[in-house]
Amino acid sequence: MSHSLVTMSYIIATILFILSLSGLSNPESSRRGNYYGILGMAIAIIATALSGSVTAYGMLILTVLVGGSIGAFAAAKVAMTQMPELVAIMHSLVGLAAVLVGFATFMDNSIHIEGVEKTIHEIEIYAGILIGAVTFSGSVIAFCKLSEKISGKPLLLPARHWLNFILLVAAIALGFIYLNQIEIGEGSLPMLMMEGSGSVPLVLMTIIALFFGVHMVMAIGGADMPVVVSMLNSYSGWAAAATGFMLGNDLLIVTGALVGSSGAILSYIMCHAMNRNFFSVIAGGFGGGTSGEAAVVEGEVQPINAEETAQLLLSAKSIMIIPGYGMAVAQAQHTVNDISKLLREKGKKVRFGIHPVAGRMPGHMNVLLAEAKVPYDIVFEMDEINEDFPNVDVSIVIGANDIVNPSALDDPNSPIAGMPVLECWKGGTTIVLKRSMASGYAGVGNPLFVLENTRMLFGDANASMQAVLKALQG
Ligand code: TAP
Repeated sequence: MSHSLVTMSYIIATILFILSLSGLSNPESSRRGNYYGILGMAIAIIATALSGSVTAYGMLILTVLVGGSIGAFAAAKVAMTQMPELVAIMHSLVGLAAVLVGFATFMDNSIHIEGVEKTIHEIEIYAGILIGAVTFSGSVIAFCKLSEKISGKPLLLPARHWLNFILLVAAIALGFIYLNQIEIGEGSLPMLMMEGSGSVPLVLMTIIALFFGVHMVMAIGGADMPVVVSMLNSYSGWAAAATGFMLGNDLLIVTGALVGSSGAILSYIMCHAMNRNFFSVIAGGFGGGTSGEAAVVEGEVQPINAEETAQLLLSAKSIMIIPGYGMAVAQAQHTVNDISKLLREKGKKVRFGIHPVAGRMPGHMNVLLAEAKVPYDIVFEMDEINEDFPNVDVSIVIGANDIVNPSALDDPNSPIAGMPVLECWKGGTTIVLKRSMASGYAGVGNPLFVLENTRMLFGDANASMQAVLKALQG
């Protein structure tokens, strides 16, 4: 393939990736966005394979087959509720790839460049391995936390900010040693490090970066995980861009930058939604650094059954449905859609209220509701409907907990203090569907359950919704 044809293919792939991102920003166009992404990636792979830079085609086909099969198997097998874990482990692979490409480039003797170009190339390798190692270890810990293989509680080492600072200074100092830019005495440790043409400082920096990734994510509390997921998404983009620089591949640089910047924007949106300061979340300690103990929830819950729930819905004019992680677990979205359809046919005003961090991944609830074919014009973001709860007669909370927890607003010691929540208790009656009194992801008690105008419909959300549907039809 000629050079200009490769360049042309890369430009087309870049345009398709941009169209893909813009398509993915809306549920209505997200399917189209996915197709653009698939087409762009296919063009990118074919153009790169035929660009002349690949000689070992046998190895390429073998690795594509092995990697592709593992990816296809994992994607087909994974449950919707495990998607965030899959995304986290995929991010770790991007980080690992950047580290491996970095070391491979470092050891490549066939590159003969001098002067400024050489220094830039060395900086690319150093930065690529640094970002890649942080992304790799951070994503592995995020995977373990999201899949509950390790506790979601923040690990707060004493003087952790100092520790982070020392690690940063050490990484910078090792960078200088690696670049052979400082004068040092013979026989000293830095001198010894320089003797391996930079390999010792490079390995030491990698160990530091791996430790930093672990420490950073371990220090972040359960409820702040959405920010971590989007932040690691951004890191994986920058790691890919760094790999692109090392390999001299323009498309990888552009694609990495697209992922890196869109992940950074998403992190900002997540922080805004949770009323968190981005740097405080990164520094760790949120979700656990409050001064006192969160208040213990005391009071009697008032259970309700499916028939009584149906009666309440039939007597209501305005109904708000608030889905959460439990709806995803129970796969109740289809039954919920059937109920909402039936109630709308009976002339009720039915709306869905979506919290930005409901579920376990950005847009989780929107995806489920789109799958169940809930019309988009009755699905509202939290900011659009939160003021309207005093006009709502009945709210149905389906497997949600943290996102409707009033203590976020009135208990300064709560680990979720300051996070905006859906203020359903300001409406007529709130019906909460869940299986037990267990807490949500953040591990805090919820005073909503014992409020006077709250009723608890215990059981699996899908089974409960089916019973309510039957009662409504009966
Ligand atoms: P949660 O606070 O996790 O509450 C979900 C509730 O669903 C649980 O209390 C559980 O209670 C109930 N449940 C589970 N399975 C159920 C079933 N089969 N039927 C009925 N109920 C069921 O969820 P949320 O309110 O959606 O809040 C999301 C939380 O996840 C936030 O803390 C958020 O920060 C965090 N998080 C979000 C993301 C993103 S990006 N969205 C990523 C990581 C973490 P029972 O066990 O009693 O049934």
